[in-house]
Amino acid sequence: MPSLKDAKLRRNIDVSTVRYVINDKYDNIGKGKSYYIFTYGCQGNEADSEVMAGILESIGYTKSTDPMNSDLVLLNTCAIRENAEQRIWGVLGQLKGRKREHPDMLVGICGCMPQEENATKKIIESYDVDIIFGTHNRHHLPELIAKAYESKAKVVEVLSNEGLILEDAPKIRESKHKAWVNIMFGCDEFCTYCIVPYTRGRERSRSKEDIINEVKDLVKKGYKEVTLLGQNVNAYGKDLGEDYTFGDLLYDLDKTGIERIRYTTSHPRDLDEKTMLAMRDCKSVMPHLHLPVQSGDNDILKIMNRKYTYEGYMEKINRLKELVPDISITTDIIVGFPNETEEQFQNTLKLVREVGFEGAFTFIYSPREGTPAAKMKDDVSEEEKHDRLNRLIELTNQGYLKGHERFVGKVVEVLVDDVSKNGEGMMCGYSKHLKLTHFKSDDKSLIGKIVKVKVTEAKTWFMIGDLVED
Ligand code: SAH
Ligand code: SF4
Ligand code: F3S
Repeated sequence: MPSLKDAKLRRNIDVSTVRYVINDKYDNIGKGKSYYIFTYGCQGNEADSEVMAGILESIGYTKSTDPMNSDLVLLNTCAIRENAEQRIWGVLGQLKGRKREHPDMLVGICGCMPQEENATKKIIESYDVDIIFGTHNRHHLPELIAKAYESKAKVVEVLSNEGLILEDAPKIRESKHKAWVNIMFGCDEFCTYCIVPYTRGRERSRSKEDIINEVKDLVKKGYKEVTLLGQNVNAYGKDLGEDYTFGDLLYDLDKTGIERIRYTTSHPRDLDEKTMLAMRDCKSVMPHLHLPVQSGDNDILKIMNRKYTYEGYMEKINRLKELVPDISITTDIIVGFPNETEEQFQNTLKLVREVGFEGAFTFIYSPREGTPAAKMKDDVSEEEKHDRLNRLIELTNQGYLKGHERFVGKVVEVLVDDVSKNGEGMMCGYSKHLKLTHFKSDDKSLIGKIVKVKVTEAKTWFMIGDLVED
């Protein structure tokens, strides 16, 4: 079981960097075989799946587009809310049937769910899964697969190695122009509702040299955008003891020649002046910030262990707006935290109006076994929680629309991702402010390039515009 007491003691665990070496012993395990990876959850999992794909291809596997007809299927799971886990039980159920017809198929489950003892028990008892491994064990993948082929028994490795930093692992990136770059792993915030500090281990930062070299290499390969990843990027470097912070890293990465830098996720308490100044000063740091607030009520924030107040949050927002006047701000909000009153919920709505969020991920609180909040008695009915969520969504949707309307008539720079599913002869990408933009064109050679688009129309979920010549 996740234990808050044990997890808090882990500061004593040493952080060690493991440099991945391809072992020729496993060279041919995947020869002639195909793999498919299901990825759920956050960008951290997306980045991990790219590493697992890299490792699998280094031992001979080729990527398949059909999970039900693959030799190896991995489920990279998320445990953040009950409904995230429900989806995974569903897919495991489907694979069970498929495995009966194809006994040679290997199924592996990894990511955050296996880090929870009860989930692992349920997987072992009820599902036909060959390999179970946690977030700290993915570099052992070739060995785990070899063991699974050798024996009919389930191979389980969910040992906590909470201080591990994996470097030099091969990666197969999904995009040729946008890349995830982990800057740190784990989380030591212990928000009382959240499972992540238990599933991802202690907060640990990669060395700045490793990060800068990765970004320089991406620039050389033609990448246009990086998104720096961590559960609380503003805590970057605190564990390295070098007096080098996230703001310093932004200034240094700006010099690498990468055109766009984004980062996620920020914690309002740790977001500091230097980071905000870097947003103003660095041309490559994009004018968008995702700053999860969770609640606008000071008592709820306190019970959530968020360590800031409504006023403290607003102070940072106002400073940001002063430094980067056209910034777009988005957030995460939880409704129906145990015993949240209507009045407390109204404080959240007030904050949403005051900030003018241009987007929000909104969630109904979901108790996670082993977290402190899961032990709290809760007197808010399900019906009330849904009603609050609907009222909140109505308000945040207005924010999305306003965020698009302010660009109508203006020219925005769009990094082109793909042909658009929004209609024939359209392409799409994201503007600097992270607004999804569709424009008329069927020129596929624009994919991966930054183009200028004059916005003609704003919708709730996207903008529409016309290409303009330079
Ligand atoms: N490290 C990031 C993101 C964590 S997970 C952060 O601190 O913001 C993404 C979001 O999921 C959180 O911001 C929170 O809004 C939501 N979340 C986390 N645990 C949850 C729970 N038990 N129930 C409902 N939402 C939750
Ligand atoms: Fe969870 Fe809080 Fe850490 Fe975010 S900062 S991952 S919400 S414990
Ligand atoms: Fe989910 Fe784990 Fe990310 S619980 S949100 S995949 S850190």
